Amino acid sequence: MQSSKSGFRALAGIAALTALVFGAGLYSLNVSAQPKLDIHFVPTPHEVVKRMLELAKVGPDDIHYDLGSGDGRIVIAAVKDFKAKKGVGIDLDPQRIKEANENKAKAGVGDNVTFREQNIFETDLSEASTVSMYLLTSINIRMRPKLLKELKPGTRIVTHAFNMGEWKEEHSESVEGYQVYLFIVPANVNGKWEVSEGERKISLDLKSEFTELSGTATVNGKSSTLKDSKITGTKIEFTIDLDGKPVKYEGNVDGGTITGSGASKWSAKKS
Ligand SMILES: C[S@@+](CC[C@H](N)C(=O)[O-])C[C@H]1O[C@@H](n2cnc3c(N)ncnc32)[C@H](O)[C@@H]1O
Repeated sequence: MQSSKSGFRALAGIAALTALVFGAGLYSLNVSAQPKLDIHFVPTPHEVVKRMLELAKVGPDDIHYDLGSGDGRIVIAAVKDFKAKKGVGIDLDPQRIKEANENKAKAGVGDNVTFREQNIFETDLSEASTVSMYLLTSINIRMRPKLLKELKPGTRIVTHAFNMGEWKEEHSESVEGYQVYLFIVPANVNGKWEVSEGERKISLDLKSEFTELSGTATVNGKSSTLKDSKITGTKIEFTIDLDGKPVKYEGNVDGGTITGSGASKWSAKKS
């Protein structure tokens, strides 16, 4: 009797251990199948989505990307309510992609909306003309070099709740207690430029970081520091002291050329 009891105990022990090991195996399988998210899903309220897309001025010419697209609401609204020609949502979590595709079917937005199961750090962003992000300041800052490298100057980026660190926003406001920010990708104007304005020749040495612009202008061998300088997307402005008088220059940057806007007839070439 004693021996059958201890045999039963031994069998029960082995069964319990097997269950534990098997369970742990399943658990670790499950854990390893989970994507490594930089942040978990929290949806942006619909009224905030609307204001973000208004601030980004999303319209029929735009291709909108939502980085970390969750249940797809921003991309769907960009196409359905703001008539963007295309919307792309990127999310690393397959569960979110599934929900986003279900919401896309319910919204009837068709093939103009796509959701891709991808890491935002490994996604080519170059076709986007408007972008939204509800991530964290630290993730926005990690994304900054990629945004500045791949997005065209003038691309509008709207973020919910979190800013971009030293990259100053063009606009920020609270929507029913939720903070939203607008950023515009600046043209890269770093370097030396030769300005021609009729007979006058000016050499510029520009330094830009995000939207901050500084530099010097050299006219007839005399250098002065630029004043009131700023870069907003492709628009550049600065003031030069010419013969003791401040002269304001405004222009539009297109690669290695700046074309003066307004009444002034000036242009600049990168040297
Ligand atoms: C705070 S939610 C925002 C969802 C949606 N954009 C919105 O505002 O309603 C962040 C989303 O980012 C996704 N995510 C986190 N890390 C990611 C990564 N590295 N690549 C792609 N998606 C990621 C999460 O799965 C989650 O759905």
